[in-house]
Amino acid sequence: LYTNWAEKGQYVTDWTEIERWDRDYYLHNVQSGRSAGFTAVDRQDGNWLTLCDGTRLLDFQSQLISDSLGHRNPGIYDEIRRAMDRYGHVFFGMGNTYRARAAKLIVEDILGTSSPHWAGRVRILASGTEAVENAITVARLYTGRQVILTQAHSFHGMTVGSSMLRGYRNNFTPSGRTNEVRDVPGFPVSGYIPVPPPERSDFVLSPCATLPSLAATEAIIRAIGAENIAAIITEPMFGAGGLWPHPDYMPGIRALSLKYGFLWIDDEVLCGFGRLGEWFGYQLASDIHPDLMVTGKSINGSTLPVGAMVTNRDIGEFLDEGRWWSGSTWDGHPLVCASIVGAVETMLREDMLTKVQQRGTYLRSRLDEVAARHPCVGHVGGAGLYHVVDLVDGTGDPIVAEDRWSAFLGDTSDHPNNIISRECAARGVLLGGFVPNTIKVGPPFTITDEEIDLAMTAFDEALGAVDALYC
Ligand SMILES: Cc1ncc(COP(=O)(O)O)c(C=O)c1O
Repeated sequence: LYTNWAEKGQYVTDWTEIERWDRDYYLHNVQSGRSAGFTAVDRQDGNWLTLCDGTRLLDFQSQLISDSLGHRNPGIYDEIRRAMDRYGHVFFGMGNTYRARAAKLIVEDILGTSSPHWAGRVRILASGTEAVENAITVARLYTGRQVILTQAHSFHGMTVGSSMLRGYRNNFTPSGRTNEVRDVPGFPVSGYIPVPPPERSDFVLSPCATLPSLAATEAIIRAIGAENIAAIITEPMFGAGGLWPHPDYMPGIRALSLKYGFLWIDDEVLCGFGRLGEWFGYQLASDIHPDLMVTGKSINGSTLPVGAMVTNRDIGEFLDEGRWWSGSTWDGHPLVCASIVGAVETMLREDMLTKVQQRGTYLRSRLDEVAARHPCVGHVGGAGLYHVVDLVDGTGDPIVAEDRWSAFLGDTSDHPNNIISRECAARGVLLGGFVPNTIKVGPPFTITDEEIDLAMTAFDEALGAVDALYC
């Protein structure tokens, strides 16, 4: 009724109606529906978005550091179209071509090339948070234990089990009472125990010393009793929290899990499938591999809702010998699996890892150059095409004291992340952050050097606004 095909086959949309329907009926995330601005996307092409008012924005954060192969990448779209000629939905009790091809690509062609060949089986799911739920369940079934250790500031999804792995807890600030935060009643659910977050990569450690976070984690393990712990879950680089850990941290966590005999769940939903310049973030450290790994986002360039859980070979055999009464409507969906096949084959064909490494090196050099001009930049960290920039005040402290703890109270419009995002948008670049002091720089793998330059010019100017206000 309101959208017509105009000449030349272009959509003509009545944005006034669309805005009204969106404001009146959609249940919005994060911002309150009443106070949210209406920033609607009309179309997406490669690394660019066109907004409903015709503004073009360079997507320098790949939406949620998720749309890694640019928008509507032909390699993925062609595979989905081919799949749609044959398939609608096939339930998990029956096989389909794409489920098998996606599983083979992940377990044999990607993970099978790393030594040792630790990966056993993969299940394809509808989201990252579901992959985390599956990993929690499998860890508990396999070990017969309940406790899951999880780091402060981490994020693993928004379903009940995943949101107990804190960071962000599905809490709520009522309208007009911005100094109040309500937790979901019943929080916390027992069986999830937080450990301290890792130190940042620039933490200075004396030779042969142990990171304080690892020492504290070991003390917690001893206090709980290793015999009660099913697993610890970690992110190679914090997604929502934007924290680039010290290089000793991930190997230290793996060593603790081996020493005390519980599983290590590596959450690669944001970092996996190339984001950090390796297929998976754990590969940045030498000689370690997880027991369970969860992925999502880049596995199909986020073209369709997706997640996946990979088990090691022992856990895969354990589950396969029994009957695991599990499964949801969307497991192994042929169209989702086709999108994975399209994305992974495109990455292999185009040697995307090398491109991420090359473009990442250029991006980092430009970020360091820009950072050197601004007193508000406290630290830059990251790898590949995911870098985080921590912003500080004139004394070097985080500008918003709450920093990476969630529950940001009061008027957030002057939080540095929001200043940067406003100023960059005014210059044609989508770039910002979730926690107030940290900007998350995560462009698509298809970004060009010229586009990096354009974004860095906008970022440079936006940082000037933060300097002026806080330094
Ligand atoms: C590290 C990490 N784990 C899990 C999730 C949840 O994934 P999804 O949003 O697909 O449920 C996210 C989402 O951003 C993430 O960054």
